Amino acid sequence: MTRNAAHPVEPLFVDRWSPRSFTGEPVPDAVLLSAFEAARWAPSASNVQPWRFLLARAGDADWETFVGLLMPRNALWARRASALVVILSELRLERRGVVVDNVSHSFDAGAAWTNFAHQALLLGWHTHGIGGFDRDAARTRLAVPDDFAIEAMVAIGRLAGLDTLDPEFHAAEAPNGRRPLDETVFAGRLGTPAFARERNAA
Ligand SMILES: Cc1cc2nc3c(=O)[nH]c(=O)nc-3n(C[C@H](O)[C@H](O)[C@H](O)COP(=O)(O)O)c2cc1C
Repeated sequence: MTRNAAHPVEPLFVDRWSPRSFTGEPVPDAVLLSAFEAARWAPSASNVQPWRFLLARAGDADWETFVGLLMPRNALWARRASALVVILSELRLERRGVVVDNVSHSFDAGAAWTNFAHQALLLGWHTHGIGGFDRDAARTRLAVPDDFAIEAMVAIGRLAGLDTLDPEFHAAEAPNGRRPLDETVFAGRLGTPAFARERNAA
């Protein structure tokens, strides 16, 4: 489908989508560094920056370990990415000398990932978030301490044609849509749209 924003936004937000067909070409460090730099500037509760990123580029010593974490259906396409990232978040923070649970560790890691995705797109690279992987295996094989949550994996790569993609994914290889704002933003509590329908029309 063609994506159309219902209200004015920077094209970046509707242009980002998650393909599965990747060229597999090497990703320059400059691209990765810019994307991680964008992630670094995400907001977080008390500015604790709970996110951490574990990186494997295709061909790195850790590459097959990262690919081996993926659910088989995800491995079919994600092994042609240029790099895979495992996103972690630290579960606790220190506030006035006391270590407490950080209730927004996942929320903040999510903000960092979208910064990463948008900066990568600005440089001509696509990303694809992945929840379908073995978190227990990731914790063991990547030696992730218990005080970090394992949030998600991300594939990054250059968009390729359908010829590189397993046929079972061909039909879904296109940008998808979104629920309208009047089913998303409510006045005070769930139920009544916050904006009159006519103002929310596409
Ligand atoms: C946390 C997270 C987990 C996801 N897990 C998977 C996955 O395991 N496999 C997959 O093919 N896509 C996965 N996706 C991609 C989503 O399906 C995709 O982002 C969503 O359909 C919206 O499409 P878009 O990113 O193209 O806008 C995941 C995305 C996120 C953010």
